[in-house]
Amino acid sequence: MVFKTPPGVYAPQDDTWLLSEALLREDITAGTAVLDVGTGSGALALAAAGRGAAQVTAVDVSPLAVGATWLRARLKGLPVRVLQGDLLTPVADRGFDLIVANPPYVPVAGRRIRRGRGVAWRAGGDGRAVVDRICRDAPPLLRPGGVLLLVHSGLCGPDRTVERLAAAGLRTAVADRRTIPFGPVLREQAPWLEAHGLIAPGETKEELVVIRAERQL
Ligand SMILES: C[S@@+](CC[C@H](N)C(=O)[O-])C[C@H]1O[C@@H](n2cnc3c(N)ncnc32)[C@H](O)[C@@H]1O
Repeated sequence: MVFKTPPGVYAPQDDTWLLSEALLREDITAGTAVLDVGTGSGALALAAAGRGAAQVTAVDVSPLAVGATWLRARLKGLPVRVLQGDLLTPVADRGFDLIVANPPYVPVAGRRIRRGRGVAWRAGGDGRAVVDRICRDAPPLLRPGGVLLLVHSGLCGPDRTVERLAAAGLRTAVADRRTIPFGPVLREQAPWLEAHGLIAPGETKEELVVIRAERQL
């Protein structure tokens, strides 16, 4: 059965697929405890469960995303536990072997919002409102040997992400980079990004960057 992403839920796209490729390179077994934080349509959680992980948890702040992921997992018969909540708060007492995150990361004018249109991508003036919280809160939830995979834009400072995760004691590196044309969101934001020196005049492409950070055994 084909399942379309409902309106209001982030449809899988280039960042989803790039992170999914990185996820599928990891050693996933039935015993791998996986967390997909900001699951959206559930694409990454389902990819992990489809690879054989029997303990997959998906979290999203959006009730629509939670409903869509729950339904999709049931329709596919995949074992995904779906929780509504704020980032890592619903799983703060758990440990994971693999955490994947495709958080909001687009730098925009104004404060970060918590609901409605844009909750999937608006991330404050530097694009790091959610990324920095993940850099702070995810490392303590990784089991020894556990891996965090996070995708974001080159516009929001991948070097800062690497520094923060390394400072948290994780062996951290850029795992993937891919340049893609601006989508509708960045095309709309381009004048503001240009005015703030975040892109060059006339720029039409952005780089997606996947960071891999591993807790030592
Ligand atoms: C860029 S979308 C990624 C969706 C999906 N993981 C994918 O790769 O296609 C970001 C997701 O994070 C969710 N989100 C934003 N802020 C959140 C928060 N504070 N806690 C949990 N989820 C959040 C949004 O609702 C959205 O589904």
